[in-house]
Amino acid sequence: MKRQSSETTSPPTRRDFLSTLMKFWGSLTLVPFGVGVLKFLSPLKNTEVTRESMRVARVTDITENTATIVRFNKDPIIIVHTAQGQFKAFSARCTHLGCVVQFKADEGAPRFDCNCHGSQFDIDGKNIAGPAPRPLTPLKVSIQESNLFVTRV
Ligand code: FES
Repeated sequence: MKRQSSETTSPPTRRDFLSTLMKFWGSLTLVPFGVGVLKFLSPLKNTEVTRESMRVARVTDITENTATIVRFNKDPIIIVHTAQGQFKAFSARCTHLGCVVQFKADEGAPRFDCNCHGSQFDIDGKNIAGPAPRPLTPLKVSIQESNLFVTRV
């Protein structure tokens, strides 16, 4: 003997289908608002990593009386191998308005020139000409197993 259900289900009408579709569509418009609220409420992530020290080159990579520019914590730094065999490193940002300085060893005493407004710095980074208000920012250079490392001072 079959049991008969007291409830009868009628097939969905077009109106029911469209009503459900509109509810779904309406809820989708709230998604961007919800994402914005969640981003506002969540704490900021600090994805920037600042290094205190970094290997920049091998000792043999920079010949005497030349320099090279590399990035250290997103900033350009200049590493010089002096004619006396020393390694020196400075921020390559001119202290006037931040242009990148270039190493000059072919005209007189070796120095750093800024081509933007004519500032010059001696081999120790001291400002000697032009509008630069202070010396280049020095970095500590160390040698470990024939590798050059720079460290913030
Ligand atoms: Fe170097 Fe002005 S930015 S002299």
